[in-house]
Amino acid sequence: MAANTFAHITGWGMSVPEKVLTNDEISEMVDTNDEWIRERTGIHQRHIAGPEDTSASLGGEAAIAALRVAKLHPNDVDLIIGATSSPEYIFPATACIIQDKIGAVNAGAFDLSAACTGFIFAVIMAAQAIQSGSIRNAVVIGAETLSRFVDWTDRNTCILFGDGAGAFVLQASHEQGGVLSSVMRSDGSGGDSLIIPGGGSAIPTSQQTIQEGQHFIQMNGREVYRFATRVMAKAANEAIDKAQLTIDDIKLIIPHQANKRIIEAAARGLKLPMERIVVNVHNYGNTSTASIPIATCEAIEDGRLNKGDQIVFVGFGGGLTWGALTATWTGPLTDEPRRLHITRYRRLARLRSFMRRLWRRLEGIIWGRKGSP
Ligand SMILES: CC(C)(COP(=O)(O)OP(=O)(O)OC[C@H]1O[C@@H](n2cnc3c(N)ncnc32)[C@H](O)[C@@H]1OP(=O)(O)O)[C@@H](O)C(=O)NCCC(=O)NCCS
Repeated sequence: MAANTFAHITGWGMSVPEKVLTNDEISEMVDTNDEWIRERTGIHQRHIAGPEDTSASLGGEAAIAALRVAKLHPNDVDLIIGATSSPEYIFPATACIIQDKIGAVNAGAFDLSAACTGFIFAVIMAAQAIQSGSIRNAVVIGAETLSRFVDWTDRNTCILFGDGAGAFVLQASHEQGGVLSSVMRSDGSGGDSLIIPGGGSAIPTSQQTIQEGQHFIQMNGREVYRFATRVMAKAANEAIDKAQLTIDDIKLIIPHQANKRIIEAAARGLKLPMERIVVNVHNYGNTSTASIPIATCEAIEDGRLNKGDQIVFVGFGGGLTWGALTATWTGPLTDEPRRLHITRYRRLARLRSFMRRLWRRLEGIIWGRKGSP
């Protein structure tokens, strides 16, 4: 570990699709109703990707917004981690598509798959890379278009999920603070309680898998509920202990937004009033890896999160996976006005991407004529 290098969260951003789908609209599609959904989940509406929206387009917007807050140029990004449960492809990684979109020409990029816990794991990985001294600046993105993996005839799952993206910038500094402690856990024996079974190497896509709907999310809701209420408070407490803090030091808990009842159970477990917990699941549904950064952006917007506050992020999801981290909230490292010209730079990034593709084609033609090197 590099002596006294701390990993601060210095930028944040979010992006959600324009289209909103209400509970009443879902009740026209499946046998459910607004009252049932609100009572059992706390969800009132969710945002749903339009034809032009993808995990990378939403993730790219969130990343750019986060870079603007941090006043960090895409050129200076060393690492991009894309946490997603709805990647654009099995490969290439969605993070690479975002890297190209934002023109982060000096960054390594990869996806991290840990379902809804992915954002927490990704922030922990980026923070550790910074603390070790191997990189200085990272962008962590949670980006989802889960509506494309939902069976819109299955009332058990289609009421829950929404689309959107959120991002953090993490930066190295010798100032004390930033990410203080982390907890990462998993239990693969529960993998089948939240799964997209088809389309991977275990069950490759075939006409049969499509007919059977194996490319859709399948979930044992009660099992996931029991698991979530068991692990949330425990993981948060463990992270708080590891940071040598007490629950009274914590200004705000920002949990994964899956279900209001699960969050309330966690609050009871932590013996915390709901005022110290961020809840916005009513507006977005479960946006998986995007839920924590979106909730963070809204907490900042509402003035609930300020420089110097101690906070906890805690989440759970498929895998099964769960985790938590504590951080001292920082914000931008510099107060100096810095014009990044990001809009102009993005146009340049598009042009660069086009030129590189063209060059690759030309190279293919040249080498193709000459034969393999
Ligand atoms: C999915 C969930 C909301 C269901 O709530 P629940 O209180 O556990 O409901 P149950 O599954 O026990 O079902 C109760 C009844 O409601 C019915 N039901 C299920 N979905 C319904 C819907 N959308 N509308 C109306 N009724 C519904 C069930 O069929 C069942 O009827 P039955 O008793 O006649 O069989 C809840 O289990 C949950 O939130 N689980 C966690 C899911 C989650 O967070 N997943 C993502 C993790 S990252």
